Amino acid sequence: MLSRKGVVWIAGMLLTFGCGPKERPSEAAEAADTAGGREAVVEQTMPDSAYLQRGKAITAAAFKTLKGHLMKAMQEGGVSQALSVCAGKAPLLLDSLSEVHDALVRRVSHRPRNPANAADSFEVSLIQRYEAMRKAGEPFKPVLRKGDEAVTFYAPIPIAMPGCLRCHGTPGKDIAEEDYILIQQYYPQDQAVGFQMGDVRGLWKIVFPRQQEAI
Ligand code: HEC
Repeated sequence: MLSRKGVVWIAGMLLTFGCGPKERPSEAAEAADTAGGREAVVEQTMPDSAYLQRGKAITAAAFKTLKGHLMKAMQEGGVSQALSVCAGKAPLLLDSLSEVHDALVRRVSHRPRNPANAADSFEVSLIQRYEAMRKAGEPFKPVLRKGDEAVTFYAPIPIAMPGCLRCHGTPGKDIAEEDYILIQQYYPQDQAVGFQMGDVRGLWKIVFPRQQEAI
């Protein structure tokens, strides 16, 4: 259930981050559609609710794909096998998902393992906001960031399973020493350790280019 505070927060996020005059929170967009007004169409933009729905569906599919590959490799040969299989494969899997869904599918983090996944300053502040919401006991909700050329969907990725800690927890405690050595071999600039259960590990980032919008 979305708390009152949550609604205010999301509305705040939508307004704070790149909402131009043509852009409105989803309630307003839906109201225009259901009122029979074709204004939303005239604007040639999908309502926020459609982006949110697509974003949620894509992140669910992407999570399932990545988790499936990870678990299979872990079962077959533990963390070291999962690392050797997954290192480099995660970006390829996300590339093929991007093609299937006609939208760029990415993960970003304030403490990235792969430097290509480094969050920009907007994304770092969004992660900090999600962390603050978590500490305040508020539910997570995705966020849309609207620009002239693209609408970007963001949703938090929490450390939701103890298995995540085997590669993102504390070296020597959650992460076996030999696995940590391997991680550092694959990712010499790794910053993605020291996480605890429930921490926000990063964000899903789905970029919908504006030109694909249906009229
Ligand atoms: C077998 C080790 C392993 C496990 C278990 C694991 N990860 Fe990762 N994780 C990695 C590797 C390797 C990368 C870098 C992938 C790449 O090159 O894009 C990564 C990258 C990520 C990223 C992308 C940002 C970045 O730092 O590059 C997120 C987010 C993430 N992991 C979250 C999780 C979550 C949540 C779980 C538990 C569901 C989890 N991981 C379990 C090894 C693991």
